[in-house]
Amino acid sequence: MVIVRMNPTREINNKVHFLLSFPIPPHVPLDERGRSQSLGLNSIGIVFAHGENWKVMRRFTLTTLRDFGMGKRAIEDRIVEEYGYLADTIGSQEGKPFDASKMINAAVANIIVSILLGKRFDYKDSRFLRLLQLTNENMRLAGKPLVTMYNIFPYLGFLLRANKALLKNREEFNDYVQATFVENLKTLDKNDQRNFIDAFLVKQQEEKSTTNGYFHNDNLQSLVSNLFTAGVETISTTLNWSFLLMLKYPEVQRKVQEEIERVIGSNPPRIEHRTQMPYTDAVIHEVQRFANILPLDLPHETAADVTLKGYFIPKGTYIIPLLTSVLQDKSQWEKPDMFYPEHFLDANGKFVKKDAFMPFSAGAFFFPFTAVASTDLRQALTVPVFFYF
Ligand code: HEM
Repeated sequence: MVIVRMNPTREINNKVHFLLSFPIPPHVPLDERGRSQSLGLNSIGIVFAHGENWKVMRRFTLTTLRDFGMGKRAIEDRIVEEYGYLADTIGSQEGKPFDASKMINAAVANIIVSILLGKRFDYKDSRFLRLLQLTNENMRLAGKPLVTMYNIFPYLGFLLRANKALLKNREEFNDYVQATFVENLKTLDKNDQRNFIDAFLVKQQEEKSTTNGYFHNDNLQSLVSNLFTAGVETISTTLNWSFLLMLKYPEVQRKVQEEIERVIGSNPPRIEHRTQMPYTDAVIHEVQRFANILPLDLPHETAADVTLKGYFIPKGTYIIPLLTSVLQDKSQWEKPDMFYPEHFLDANGKFVKKDAFMPFSAGAFFFPFTAVASTDLRQALTVPVFFYF
C-alpha cells in the first residue's frame, strides 16, 4: 500500500505515527519468497533486515556508532579534519575544471570509514576508489525502475536483469570487508577497541558459546556495506545537489557566504554556529526538500490493524510511505516545485521548522542517524562554500 500526502496535521499525523511507530523494519518481498539471493538483499544487516535480527543489529549499530563519536564533538572534529583535506585537494586544482563529485564522495566516505575501519584513505588510493565505484554502481543498479518494481510486485521477478552485476559487486565489496576483519582479528584487544569492526568481533567472541547468535560474519559484512552505502550515497548526493543549486542560484550562494564569513569567520565550522545561521540552515533544509533523494522512503509494514482516513489497513500490510508526496505537497509549500529557501524562513529571516519536512522518513519512525547526517551536511556544505565560492 502506498501512503501519499501524509498531511502533517495533528490528527492524521497521529495515525501515521501509529502506523509507523512500531518500527517494523523494511520488509523486502524478496526475502519472504526465498529469492533473497537474487538481489543480495537477504534479511541480515540492518537496512533490509527484519524481526529480531534487525532489532539486535540496530541496537548494536547505534550504541557502537555513538561510542565512536557519532552525534558528538568527536565526529565534528573528524569532519573538520576531512574537509581540510577536501579543501586542499580542491585548492590544488588551481582553478582548472575538475569533477568535484568524486572528491566529495571520497571525503564523505572517509568520515564513515573512520568509524568503521578506524582510518582514512587517500583520495587516490586505488582500493578506496574501487570500493566507492562498487557502491555507486550498486546504488544505480538498485535504483533501476525494474528493481523497484520487483520490490513492490515480486511476481515480476522474471523481468529482472540487473541482479548478476549487483551480486558480483557485492561479493567484491564483501571480500574486502572480510579481509579487513580477518586482519583486525589478529590484533584484537577487547580492552582497546579501535573501530566498529573490532566492537563487532568482540561481541562475536562473547557470543561464541550460544548456538543462535547474531554476531556472525554475514551480519558484519552486511552491516558494514549498509552503513557505507547509506552513509556515503545519501550525503554525497545531497552535497552534489547543494553545489548544483548554489551554482544555479548565485544570489543564494552569496547570502550563504556572507553569513558564513560573518558568523564563523576563519574558525572551523561547528554545530553550535547553526543557531546563528538561519539562512544557511534554511538553504540546507531546502536542498534536502528539493533534492528529495529518497522519494519512496524504505518500505515498512503495519504493526497492527489501523484505520486511516476511513480505510482499514490490516496488520502486516506492506507500506510505501511516499515521501515525495509530502515534500512537494502544494498545501504545505508556497512554491513546491521551486528551490526556495524562504520556505524555512519567517518574515524576520528567522529559521522556521516545517512538519512537512520529512526527508528522513515519516511519522514517528525514529531515524537515528539524523544527528550525524545533519552535522555532516552542515559542515560539509560550509567548508567548501567558505573557501571556494
Ligand atoms: C542526507 C542524509 C540522509 C538521508 C536523507 C537519509 C534518509 C533515510 C531514510 C528515508 C531512511 C528510511 C527510514 C525508514 O525506514 O523509514 C534511512 C534509513 C537508514 N539510514 Fe539514512 N539518511 C541519510 C544519512 C544517513 C547516514 C549518514 C547514515 C549512517 C551513518 C545512515 C544510515 C541509515 C541506516 C542504517 C538506515 C536503516 C535504519 C533502520 O532500518 O532502522 N543514513 N535513511
